[in-house]
Amino acid sequence: MIRSQKGTHDILPSEIWKWQKVETLLREIFNNYTYSEVRTPIFEKTALFSRGIGEFTDIVSKEMYSFEDKGGESLTLRPEYTASVVRSYIQHNWVQQGNLHRTWYMGPLFRQERPQKGRQRQFHQFGVECIGSNGAEADAEVIILAWKIYEKMGLKDIELKINSIGSTDARKKYIEILKKALEPKKIELCPLCQDRFDGNTLRLFDCKNENCKETIREHAPIITEHIDSEDQEHFKKVQTLLDAVSVPYTVEPSLVRGLDYYTRTTFEIQGKRLGAQDALCGGGRYDHLIADLGGKATPSVGFAAGMERLIIAMESEGLFSEDDNEGPILFVAPMGEKALFEAFRLSTIFRDAGLKIEIELLGRSPKAMMREANRKNAHFALMLGENEIDSGEYILKNMRGGENIKSDSENILHDLKSLTD
Ligand code: HAM
Repeated sequence: MIRSQKGTHDILPSEIWKWQKVETLLREIFNNYTYSEVRTPIFEKTALFSRGIGEFTDIVSKEMYSFEDKGGESLTLRPEYTASVVRSYIQHNWVQQGNLHRTWYMGPLFRQERPQKGRQRQFHQFGVECIGSNGAEADAEVIILAWKIYEKMGLKDIELKINSIGSTDARKKYIEILKKALEPKKIELCPLCQDRFDGNTLRLFDCKNENCKETIREHAPIITEHIDSEDQEHFKKVQTLLDAVSVPYTVEPSLVRGLDYYTRTTFEIQGKRLGAQDALCGGGRYDHLIADLGGKATPSVGFAAGMERLIIAMESEGLFSEDDNEGPILFVAPMGEKALFEAFRLSTIFRDAGLKIEIELLGRSPKAMMREANRKNAHFALMLGENEIDSGEYILKNMRGGENIKSDSENILHDLKSLTD
């Protein structure tokens, strides 16, 4: 038996309805905010990600699925979308069609991380990129959109955290100040933090080790106190806009995010019931990425969110009900060979008319067919025997406790259709 790879999951037919419910809601929201979908390839040149995300980040230094193709070119299964979207923006000269681009995406991504609840090696993200505006209003729009997604899904136990990590220059200076402040304590930090100290200093804020957290809380200077006045103003305006639409947030100075391309605003929405992997989504502004990848400097902001984590969070708040897993309107239960032909004829007419119809394929007993109709959450069942065929009179048996409906060969399609309206 060949099993699936560690850190990958089948999304089974019995649970796919949850994904589809979420996907439908997402498409509606993105449409309301006038974002258009983009679909990029699952693999790209490795250099796109190493240059875009940053050599020292965890993703590039240890998590990418990279391989050489038969021509000897280094390719990588996408570990995130932003670099791919930016590549597409530059390559296809989106700017010719306007100065502002709102786009969304959804699909599988690959990171070779240690699998645990809410962390897979193949996982799914949805997200948006708003390309072309340097205004705080773009940051606010993207953050509000992210928040509204979770609100629309019905989640209550969520928290929005925002921060500003300032311009690249201010951040460089801050990193020096941070290193100086922590240098005397470096020896007390965990091996991972010591490793990150020089190349990936800001990630010290993400350490889960209690000792490191304590040291950093006590000794690290606060980043928002070290950013430029323009960055401060930008950040204030983002907050004012969030206040204006009553989106609740807390400012979290340790929220630095693990990818190198961010400037100014960073944010995350966390699920309080998720445990260790509590980030439902994360994003921020990236004003230099497009230039770094060879395009004309274009300010942008976006976020991406884990589908699996959203579904886990919704399950933990009881937001899926079996009623969402819509059963067929009719379960057709033929009894005998003659009835089978009539069952096929009727089912085909009903399906052609757009109705969801299940027909028995295992030739089970009437009792077993009714059990199956129940299990499938069918609304009605039609037992078809010689009597029904000869008389042309049918009883639509209500499987959900309501009244049965008497019908006949002339009216049955009409009756069924009116039940679904
Ligand atoms: P990220 O923080 O790396 O950001 O990922 C965003 C979200 O993807 C996380 O908050 C989490 O929900 C989900 N996620 C990440 N890794 C895994 C995993 N191994 N298993 C399950 N879920 C995972 C980005 O990817 C940026 N591109 C976001 C962005 C867009 N920034 C600007 N625009």
